[in-house]
Amino acid sequence: MNSHPALQTLILGTHNQKKCGELRVLLEPLGLKLLSLAEVPGSIEVDETGSTFIENARLKASQQAVHLKQWTIGEDSGLCVPGLSGEPGVYSARYSDPGATDERNNEKLLSELLARSPGNRSAYYVCTIALADPSGQIHIEAEGQCWGRILKEYRGSGGFGYDPLFEIPEYHQTFAELGGTVKSVLSHRARALQKFIQQLRRFL
Ligand code: IMP
Repeated sequence: MNSHPALQTLILGTHNQKKCGELRVLLEPLGLKLLSLAEVPGSIEVDETGSTFIENARLKASQQAVHLKQWTIGEDSGLCVPGLSGEPGVYSARYSDPGATDERNNEKLLSELLARSPGNRSAYYVCTIALADPSGQIHIEAEGQCWGRILKEYRGSGGFGYDPLFEIPEYHQTFAELGGTVKSVLSHRARALQKFIQQLRRFL
């Protein structure tokens, strides 16, 4: 039940449809009207100029919220590989080049690991989420992580981004093989959202 007088509609401030789907599944039970940027006319593309995930999540939330005059969630996420000094990190979406595709990013990840860290293939996903009101003020922030291992070849066809290479050791399967149900419990986005929702429930 949502009894907050102003917060009735929440914008999911991402242009990534896969991310949007994952956010929607976990936020739907809160009783808010959820709108993706594809459903709102006139949204903007926010430049990710921050040097950390949470800085970028705050930017995406507050700039879009001010522009659309709506409560907005900003989400920033990516893959960090300790053997590559934390790369691709905040550059996960554009690791291979500015107009990167998932395929080119994955190819670069494989070749960098082969050249620089063949013996240590552990990696973790990070997801940060921020909630801004229509004036741009941030009210809630949360972060989640999910550890795994980068395989040498692709496995599975679900998910997006680095998922066909990212194996969850306990399952011996990649996120692309495990599919949405497991991902909606275990992933960095699920973990960040669980913390975020606890705070949001107190707020509503
Ligand atoms: P952002 O849109 O700037 O937050 O970039 C996120 C990027 O991180 C995506 O384009 C993917 O490359 C990667 N990423 C984030 N979350 C996931 C995930 O759940 N699976 C696979 N790749 C992800």
